[in-house]
Amino acid sequence: MCAKVFVTGVAGFLGSHLSERLLGQGHQVVGIDNFLGGYRDNVPADVKFHEADACDFEKMKTLLKGMEVVYHCAASPHEGLSVFSPNLVTLHTYNSTVAVTSAAIFAGARRIVFCSSMARYGEQPKLPFTEDMTPLPIDPYGIAKYAAEMAIQSLSKAHGIEYTHAIPHNIIGTRQKYDDPYRNVASIMINLMLQGRQPIIYGDGEQKRAFSFVDDVVDPLLKMGFDRSVVGEAINVGPDEEYTCVSINELARKVAVLIGFKNLKPVYVADRPMEVKMAYCSAEKARRLLGYRTSTNLDDGLVKMVEWIRRRGTKPFEYHLPLELITDRTPATWKDRLF
Ligand SMILES: NC(=O)c1ccc[n+]([C@@H]2O[C@H](COP(=O)([O-])OP(=O)(O)OC[C@H]3O[C@@H](n4cnc5c(N)ncnc54)[C@H](O)[C@@H]3O)[C@@H](O)[C@H]2O)c1
Repeated sequence: MCAKVFVTGVAGFLGSHLSERLLGQGHQVVGIDNFLGGYRDNVPADVKFHEADACDFEKMKTLLKGMEVVYHCAASPHEGLSVFSPNLVTLHTYNSTVAVTSAAIFAGARRIVFCSSMARYGEQPKLPFTEDMTPLPIDPYGIAKYAAEMAIQSLSKAHGIEYTHAIPHNIIGTRQKYDDPYRNVASIMINLMLQGRQPIIYGDGEQKRAFSFVDDVVDPLLKMGFDRSVVGEAINVGPDEEYTCVSINELARKVAVLIGFKNLKPVYVADRPMEVKMAYCSAEKARRLLGYRTSTNLDDGLVKMVEWIRRRGTKPFEYHLPLELITDRTPATWKDRLF
């Protein structure tokens, strides 16, 4: 059955792919973005687009009129930066969620799907992260995501709107902003190496992450908007097969091979404060409730990204967000604009 669907962050990486697939399924999509991130040409042509800020409750009330399902993808998903720009990240990650959720309730929407983040788990005594673990976020971004989840739960209990929390890992794919110096490690490496420049790695590069290809995140997200079985659930979205989990050093080696970048000698800079060493999630619940499976592995996903960035052309990094706290702990990559 086709529905009227509202997508926040539609010019972003995930929001644009999700909207395209929703349109393909016959849904009507209204989308908003304020261009804190994303690219204007990411917005699919058939989306009814409004340039608007998700934090603007009055505007959200108007735009959400008649909408049935809401996907809240907009955020400032800058985990590392959140330690140095906590106000910016909290505003666009937590406050925007409260504004969109309450506007969705006001407008009578049936369901909200919230894009949370693996950052909500923080440092856990055990790996992989499972949904029954008590979240222990350690940075303002993870705290904002977990607080946003709790705000949605509370408002849902009081007002009856259905919700599902998606908990993605690190996602890769086309349309990801690759000139943002504050996030998206794979995109940054590709942009640098295509310019003939060495990648810059925080710490010893042995921190490990599991990467998902964007299509493998969009499939479960689509179901989360419509399936009965996922109401009130928080579900990890991403692969848990061993080969998808790599260190940042391994990631640099993979990108170098794909690009044909000779003489890889990463530049190592100080650790980023509060960076979690090991982070990966179990996909067991997603398999059970959503039929989740990994269809694109890391290497194939990286090939697609490299091709896309090559086609668009490399870009200089854009230091587009304010650094609120400049101290001796602020990474030189940002303070001294090393990228
Ligand atoms: N990409 C990942 O690896 C990843 C991993 C886990 C969770 N997530 C979550 O998934 C969602 C999408 O992430 P993404 O990678 O597509 O990020 P993105 O930055 O590409 O997209 C987010 C979009 O939201 C917009 N936006 C930000 N604040 C806004 C506001 N106040 N009003 C309107 N628009 C606003 C930005 O301009 C951007 O286009 C985010 O909520 C993020 O926290 C992403």
